Amino acid sequence: MPHRPAWAPDEVEIEQPSAARMYDFYLGGSHNFEADRELARLAVSHWPDLPMVMRANRAFLRRAVRYLVGQGITQFLDLGSGIPTVGNVHEEAAAADPSCRVVYVDVDPVAVAHSRLLLQGTHNAAVIHADARDADFVLNAAETRALLDLSKPVAVMMVALLHFVPDTDDPAGLVARYRAAMSPGSYLAVSHATVDGVGELMREHERIYQRSATPIFARTHAQVEALFDGFDVVEPGVVFLPLWRPDPEEPPVDRPERFSGYAVVGRVSSE
Ligand SMILES: C[S@@+](CC[C@H](N)C(=O)[O-])C[C@H]1O[C@@H](n2cnc3c(N)ncnc32)[C@H](O)[C@@H]1O
Repeated sequence: MPHRPAWAPDEVEIEQPSAARMYDFYLGGSHNFEADRELARLAVSHWPDLPMVMRANRAFLRRAVRYLVGQGITQFLDLGSGIPTVGNVHEEAAAADPSCRVVYVDVDPVAVAHSRLLLQGTHNAAVIHADARDADFVLNAAETRALLDLSKPVAVMMVALLHFVPDTDDPAGLVARYRAAMSPGSYLAVSHATVDGVGELMREHERIYQRSATPIFARTHAQVEALFDGFDVVEPGVVFLPLWRPDPEEPPVDRPERFSGYAVVGRVSSE
């Protein structure tokens, strides 16, 4: 029997690897189980750049939040928010504007339990245990209603989320359901795994994640861009992760396609 740590929520199946806990492992966190570590190590053995890719994804999330606060956004709906780690949305946003409010949503019980712990005593952020594909549930949840005023601009974050939504679950339709609830001036931030540039490595990665509770589906530049129907994509467009508005002090990136993920931010079109 694998060791079950005391902090593991009762409903979590510790023998079934999950993207949330594998991501935590790549980022150096400790909220993962042996099955997660085993599969994550296998993935890294095929693709040693993976931890670098995950750090670049997280860095994009932080830059996007700062950019959005700079655009006047003070409300965030963070879908697939993950296990808390350095630079969570409410911390990053509050550092730029303390009036910011954040609702986190994740399907993974460990991510939700640790978010709850972290948010104890915090009044401007909450977490919902939900499947982000159930947009009606998320948008009408008590936490969303209490913290976010959807008649005002909001940023919906889908950072490293949509590649866990298969074509059969219609990721573009899912984006459209959230967009319908977003008032003018709202933004959508997405990062998404791609096959462009890394080809077979990503296909092997997809095969490895088939063994987890959260299979991954990489998409092309055109497919990621198509998710932004009804949004005006802001500069610099759909670009590899480190190329999205890099901090000025960051050194130039060699072969950005190695990061195998696109970053995009769009603003609800005014029609
Ligand atoms: C790779 S992590 C990304 C975490 C964070 N957004 C970031 O970029 O640092 C992906 C997260 O999405 C969550 N997730 C996957 N499918 C989901 C779904 N249908 N609904 C809610 N969360 C989901 C996973 O549990 C995991 O925590």
